[in-house]
Order: sequence, then C-alpha cells, then structure tokens
Amino acid sequence: MDMDRLLTDRARAINGSGIRAVFARRASMRDPIDLSIGQPNFPVPAAIKRAAIDAIEHDRNGYSVTDGVPELRARITPWLRADVGWDVAGPLGMLVNNGTSAAIALAFLALVGPGDEAIIPDPYFVMYPHMATVCGGRAVACDTYPDFRLTAERVEPLITPRTKLILLNSPSNPGGVVANERECRDLLDLCRRRNLVLLSDEIYDLFTYPESRTARRADGSDCCPSPARMPGAEECVLLVRGFGKTYGVTGWRLGFCAGPRALIEQMTKLQQYLYVCAPTPLQLGAAAAFDVDVGPQVREYQRLRDRVVAHLSEITEVTTPGGAFYAFPRVPSRLGITATQLMERCAERELLIVPGKAFSSRDTHFRLSYATRPETLDRGLAVLTDVLRA
Ligand SMILES: Cc1ncc(COP(=O)(O)O)c(C=O)c1O
Repeated sequence: MDMDRLLTDRARAINGSGIRAVFARRASMRDPIDLSIGQPNFPVPAAIKRAAIDAIEHDRNGYSVTDGVPELRARITPWLRADVGWDVAGPLGMLVNNGTSAAIALAFLALVGPGDEAIIPDPYFVMYPHMATVCGGRAVACDTYPDFRLTAERVEPLITPRTKLILLNSPSNPGGVVANERECRDLLDLCRRRNLVLLSDEIYDLFTYPESRTARRADGSDCCPSPARMPGAEECVLLVRGFGKTYGVTGWRLGFCAGPRALIEQMTKLQQYLYVCAPTPLQLGAAAAFDVDVGPQVREYQRLRDRVVAHLSEITEVTTPGGAFYAFPRVPSRLGITATQLMERCAERELLIVPGKAFSSRDTHFRLSYATRPETLDRGLAVLTDVLRA
C-alpha cells in the first residue's frame, strides 16, 4: 500500500515528543536514576482513590454530559469563585476536559485556523507548537532566554493581524518560572488592547513556593499570580487547570477550563465529537480532590528545589524555580557540547534528563525533574556533578 500518498503533511510535520525519546532509552537501563519524569512521585490521596472506586462500584461508568458531571462542576464552581473571583454563569463558561492537554488542543482548534498565529514562549511545553501546526496555523516563538519570563515587551513586537492567542504558562514547564503580578497585568492589557485570547496554562498553580505566592485569593490565602484574577480578565482569559499533576493522577486525564462563554461553547461542541466526555468515575474521584491539602507535598518539593539549586548553582547557571517541580539549568559552555550530547553522557551513567531541544529551538539547557525521592535526587546530582565538571 502506498501509505505515503495517503498521509497528511499535517501529521508528517509533527515530530515525536523529545520526552518520549528519553522514555525509550529508559527501557534499556537496569537501574535508571530517572530525573526525566514530569509527574509527582507521591501516592494519590486515599480520599480521591476511594471516591473513584466508589463511583465504579456504584455503576457510574457510563458517559457523562460533555461539560462534566454535576458533582465535579459543583466543586469547581465555588473554587473558581473563591480563587479568581469568577462566577461561571452568564458571560463566563466552564468545561471539564480530558486532561489539560485536551483543553489546550480544543482552544487551538477553536481559535487557530489556516495561516493564523499563536504566540508561545520558548522554551515551551512540548505540545504548544504542534497544536498550531495541527490547526494549519503557525506557532510564533517568543524567545524568553535567559530568564524565561514571558513579558508584554517581548510579546508585542510578534503580534500580527493573524495572531489569535498568547499562551502564558505559569508556573512553567520546563523552567518552573512564576509570572509576577505586573507581567500578568501587562499581558492581559496587551490582549485586551489587541483583541487576543490570553490562554493561561496554570496546570502547576498549586505547586508554587512561598516567595512566588505574591497574590491573594478572595478568601485571603496566598497563591501564585494569575491574569484571571485581574480586572477585565473575563473578556479574554482562558484559564486552564488540571488535576493530574496536583494530585498525582496524570493517567486519569482530567482538567478543566473556564473563560468567555462564546469560546467555551465552541470548545464544548468540539469536545462532543473529539473526546465525548472525561472518564465519568474519575471525574467523581476528582470531585474529592477539593478536600485535599497538597501543602505537605509542596513543602517537600520546596526542600528538593533548594537542594537542586544549591548544588547546581556552584557548577552552572540555573534560574531558581518558583513553582512546578523542574529546573532548567544551562549546559556549561566550556564543555562545548549540546544538551542532547549531555543527555547521552548522563544516560551512559544511568541518569535520565531531558535535553532542552525537546522544549526549545535551542539545545543549550536541560530539564531535570525533582519530583522524586531525596535519595534518587542525590544520586542524580552526584552523577550530574561528575559529568558537568568533566
Ligand atoms: C505546562 C503543561 N501544560 C499541560 C500539560 C498536560 O497535562 P495533562 O496531563 O493534564 O494533559 C503538561 C504536562 O506535562 C504541562 O507541563
């Protein structure tokens, strides 16, 4: 069969994820020190597991309505009110998704058409540029090196009449960078002025360390800044949040988004045909997540973050992550190698890291995840020290 004639340019234009390539290397290792994985290492809180098991046992295994089971929506709605001050009624809508990825994919499908442009940060989370390609559009990368901050000043010159959206990811993957209040406000003002959607991917919102929790929720608790909390946000912010990273249920494929009703309605229609609904019993499990405090996990990751920064800043440049559970250090230039070559050298010593090329047009940095046991992190840091000092 001449499959070549049948396959689309769209499918061919997309490379496999660089993270998956590291995964593949793992298969041939005996006792890998895995600092490549982008998911929490703690066990899923018992109440969440119990709620999903109960749902299965009580025969809640069928389809749900497209926008999410009422029990979960009834928890998200007051949470959004308390957190960002949004009432998801009237001009604002909300949709439960099959992971944060689905919310992002649906937003691109609803907004980006052939020839349209989406401005994304570089470095970026792996799916962002490909979503624009899938839609027949183009991702315009905003170079945020060396501090990885997406600012209105850096973004504005990239806007053209074809621009549809600006993507902000805070706390970010791979840098762990948290946008400050001014950066959020300036990006929001820019989007309002230029009639653009500000897609705010906040999948790591609860994993923010104290010095970056400079904003306040309506209930007075501290949190990371979000453009959604600012005046005028309802007009143009699409807020995307997830359950997978926060509660260790990445395999459940659950997230939600909220924003202008006109946009959410189009995304809901697309979801009907692409995903139908998020898994019903797992949505019911996620409803129990709103009673879980992840504070102890955040404090543990803060200790590990401090360990990584203290260790690596003696050897190379590393921006202190304000959130998430990744660091994105630079490959010291005196080594004269790319991050992919560094990854190979580390893999020979059974250490897995992800080269910057997976997240960027550059291959000068590497991502390590410290969402692991302290002993594993220490073994990994020891190998890295050897390789970086070689
Ligand atoms: C910044 C960012 N956005 C979105 C996702 C996708 O998450 P989900 O598993 O909820 O689809 C990830 C996963 O690594 C991520 O790091």
